[in-house]
Formats: sequence, structure tokens, C-alpha cells
Amino acid sequence: MKKTAISHPNIAFIKYWGNRDDSLRLPSNGSISMNLSALETHTTVEIDSEIQSDCLTINKLEQQGNALVRVTDFMDILREMSGKNAFSRIYSITNFPQSAGVASSAAAFSALALAGSKAYGLDLSEKALSILARRGSGSASRSIPNGFVELMASDKSEESFAKSIASADHWQLWDCVAIVTKEAKKIGSTEGHSAAYTSPFQPARVQDAPRRLNLCREALLKKDFNALAEIIELDSNMMHSVMMTSSPSLMYWTSHSLEIMQKVILWRHEGIAAAYTLDAGSNVHVICTDESIHMIKNRLEGMPFVEKVLASCVGSGAKLLD
Ligand code: DP6
Repeated sequence: MKKTAISHPNIAFIKYWGNRDDSLRLPSNGSISMNLSALETHTTVEIDSEIQSDCLTINKLEQQGNALVRVTDFMDILREMSGKNAFSRIYSITNFPQSAGVASSAAAFSALALAGSKAYGLDLSEKALSILARRGSGSASRSIPNGFVELMASDKSEESFAKSIASADHWQLWDCVAIVTKEAKKIGSTEGHSAAYTSPFQPARVQDAPRRLNLCREALLKKDFNALAEIIELDSNMMHSVMMTSSPSLMYWTSHSLEIMQKVILWRHEGIAAAYTLDAGSNVHVICTDESIHMIKNRLEGMPFVEKVLASCVGSGAKLLD
């Protein structure tokens, strides 16, 4: 059995950082994101009864070590759910840089959850797929539904899933990712999540999350850009404050990231719709509208240290091909 799925990464407006349970990836707080249409991962899962372990190829390179272990652990969940013990060949292709603050694991595990569940003969609901994808990567649960998506936090695995709060055509927002480095980050999100509670700021960040989620949801539903800008910049700064004050300290911002963030604030004062947010990396996501996208893209591309700008409007959820 061979199945292929395509999925997009997402950018979080309200961030997931820290888990209630690391092994189940039960997030400490809820999160809200938008899927990124121009960035995608295609994943094929082919069950092969002749092989003795799973084989993983990403962008034509055969993987060993941590990447393979993480995918094999995920495939074990599928084998348990389906009662089929066979191993698989997994081929994945992405069109954007990995491990640099563009959520590659979100696209990877949402595509794998969909292609893998179908290949193993499971016909899961969107909710069940989102829960499954979350077991591979927390943010992957948000790449299953369409458009603007919220992941619920709960102590129970079956209650921590993502659902769409507005479809992709609700509001033509854009994310311009200013790539300032293509280098893989030294400490990935998984390790970062488990260090979150070493920061004295994390409990306060988590406690205040319902308020930020409400403000973000409301701004999205009302299409109020200034309110959205205010809450997503605050949320990004709060997560990075936790990261910087964790042990070990995680400092993802570079001087170039900061320069872009400061420019974005100035542009907004000029009346241009723009807001920044950064995931676990130094690349800066500049959220803007249909009216401001061209100006923002040109301005970012004009900065000497910006290697590339990846522009995406709001994307759909994960889809099965063929
Ligand atoms: C900063 O989903 O990448 O992008 O579950 O360990 O794969 P794992 O973590 P991941 O964490 C995302 C962290 C973030 C914020 C977010 O996307 O909400």
C-alpha cells in the first residue's frame, strides 16, 4: 500500500512552548496559527513487507540517527493503531529550509500522519488526525485543518487537538519570512520545550495564554490588523523572553532579526500593515495584508543581510494526493 499527502507548515500567532507531558506532546497552553500556502512537504508512505525497519529519505537524502528514530517512533503508533506490523519506506520532499524557524516538523508530521494513516488502512477524522500529528510534533496538529487554526490544551490526549477557527479565504493575510540564516539551529524545539519551565517567566506566560488567545481569535475574526499586530508581537516577545531566561539559555534572535523587528514597528507607525513574529529560529516572519505585501516584500529584500523572502498567503489543511 502506497499513499502520498501534501501539507503546509504554519506560523503561530499565539505560540506553543512547553509541554504538560513531553512524551504525549500535550502542550502547556493553547496556540493559534495560520497555514502557509507557498511552503509545502510531500510525503509518500509505502508499506514494504520485505524490509526489517523503516527507511526514511528527506529531499533525496537517506536519514539515520535522530530523524529516523523520531519517524520510526511515530510509525510505531500507526502500527499499534492499525494492528499491521510491516515497516515502510518514507519519502519526503520540502520546498523550504529545514530547522531554521520555519516549522518544517509541522509540515512533515502532518503529511506523515495523513499518508501513513491511509497507507496502514486507517480512515481517521480530522480530529483524530490532528491528535495523531501532535504525537509527532505539537505544531503539526495545527497543519491538519484548513486556514486559521487553534490547538486546544488539555491534560487529556483526546482533548488536545486543533480545529479551524476561520477558513483560508476568510482574510487574505500574508507571511513574508525574511531568511537571515539557512543554518540549522543548535537547539531544536523538542529540547526547548523541555527547558521551558526552567524559566521563571514560563508559568506567567502560560497563565496569561487564555487572554492572549481570546484577543488573537477576536482580532482574526474581526479582521482587525492593528489588534492582531499588537497581540502577536507581544506573544512572540513573551515566548522569546522564556527562551532567553531558560537553562540553557536559548537566544534565537540575531542582530539582524532585531533590526527587522525594529523596522517593522516603524513601518506600522507609517501606517503600513505589518507585524513580526519569530519561532524557534532567527528568521523573521512579517505578517502583512494584501495591500501591504508588495511594499513589505520589497523593503525586506532591500536589506543587505536578508538572503531571501518566502511569501505565503493562507494555506489549506493537509491533503491526500492521488
Ligand atoms: C516556536 O512543534 O516544533 O514554533 O513538538 O517538539 O516538534 P515539537 O515542537 P514544535 O514546536 C513549535 C514551537 C514554535 C511555536 C509554535 O509553532 O507554536
